Amino acid sequence: MIPGDFQYKKPSGKQTLLMAVMGVGGLVGFVVTVLVLTFVVSAWVGQPVIFGNDDGPVQPIAYPHTIHAGTGTGQLGLDCTFCHRNVTVGAAATIPAVGLCLTCHKTVGGTTETAKAEINKLRAADEAGEAIDWVRVHRVPDHVHFVHEAHIKFFTEKDGILPSAVCSTCHGNVAGMTQVAQVRSLKMSDCVDCHRDNGAPTDCTTCHY
Ligand code: HEC
Ligand code: HEC
Ligand code: HEC
Ligand code: HEC
Ligand code: HEC
Repeated sequence: MIPGDFQYKKPSGKQTLLMAVMGVGGLVGFVVTVLVLTFVVSAWVGQPVIFGNDDGPVQPIAYPHTIHAGTGTGQLGLDCTFCHRNVTVGAAATIPAVGLCLTCHKTVGGTTETAKAEINKLRAADEAGEAIDWVRVHRVPDHVHFVHEAHIKFFTEKDGILPSAVCSTCHGNVAGMTQVAQVRSLKMSDCVDCHRDNGAPTDCTTCHY
């Protein structure tokens, strides 16, 4: 067969439409349309479709959940509620104050160079009487009402599990993260879907003031 000697097929309706859309002028419009749609979908579903932020924000002190909350060898296996003390009783889980960290880190100075440097930042904050400006990873907008306590109570009772076993439903395997990243959208559609699945209220005033 001679190169180029192919059978010409009449383009189908779909192909003709695609050709028209892909025309030079149309191409720009097409790209813009895709970008706009992508943003709309990201805003609604909450997962960045193309601009991923998979690693979570860098924190002022590289505090690893792995060493502290992990249950592997050489890991401390501390319970989530040991530090996030308010999670079973209030709206916010809360981040522990430096003082709690210092119960160990007055004596535990770290073995590796990075560990020593990061723990020194912690000790310096303690000496200066300063709080650490941890960067928030999960945050719902101000007009949304979220309460940890109700969720922890419901799932510990329904599944007969400990409070710390409920966290992964929304936060993923934090004990396996050296830097906390958000893994679930927690946008309106996500909240409402779970509420519907569990017979929880879905009227607007449940979540909006
Ligand atoms: C030794 C104390 C300690 C323990 C134990 C601990 N955490 Fe944390 N957690 C922190 C600190 C400090 C931060 C803030 C810095 C960061 O985000 O890494 C944090 C941040 C978080 C965040 C992100 C908060 C935000 O800004 O959105 C989540 C979610 C979280 N922890 C869940 C857990 C879960 C789940 C467990 C148990 C598996 C756990 N933590 C165990 C100290 C602890
Ligand atoms: C129950 C004791 C305990 C508590 C409480 C504790 N830590 Fe630790 N932490 C350790 C141990 C043990 C290590 C491992 C040190 C090593 O061998 O290098 C460690 C390591 C670290 C490291 C170094 C990680 C690395 O290897 O780079 C940082 C940073 C750190 N902790 C921050 C914190 C912060 C912040 C808090 C409070 C939210 C906290 N720790 C609470 C025991 C504790
Ligand atoms: C039903 C989903 C859900 C579950 C289950 C859940 N969280 Fe959260 N968490 C959220 C949402 C949503 C936010 C953001 C809340 C806000 O902005 O007010 C958040 C924020 C946080 C924060 C940062 C702000 C704060 O409240 O202090 C921490 C820390 C945290 N969660 C820890 C935990 C721990 C520990 C558990 C398990 C004991 C847990 N969460 C279980 C959805 C959940
Ligand atoms: C994993 C499933 C799940 C997800 C995800 C979830 N919820 Fe819920 N939520 C529940 C269940 C189940 C209840 C009912 C608890 C009860 O009956 O006490 C509830 C109850 C509530 C309540 C009522 C609390 C009270 O005081 O009675 C609020 C407010 C709420 N959720 C807000 C949210 C918001 C906002 C989000 C998303 C950011 C969210 N929830 C995500 C399962 C979920
Ligand atoms: C289970 C909790 C929940 C319920 C029920 C709920 N919302 Fe929302 N809503 C949210 C959350 C979470 C957000 C914030 C999403 C984000 O992070 O941008 C939101 C955002 C919004 C926004 C802002 C625009 C947007 O999409 O971000 C509007 C408007 C809104 N909700 C209207 C409603 C109305 C109307 C109802 C009742 C039909 C309702 N919501 C019921 C959780 C809920």
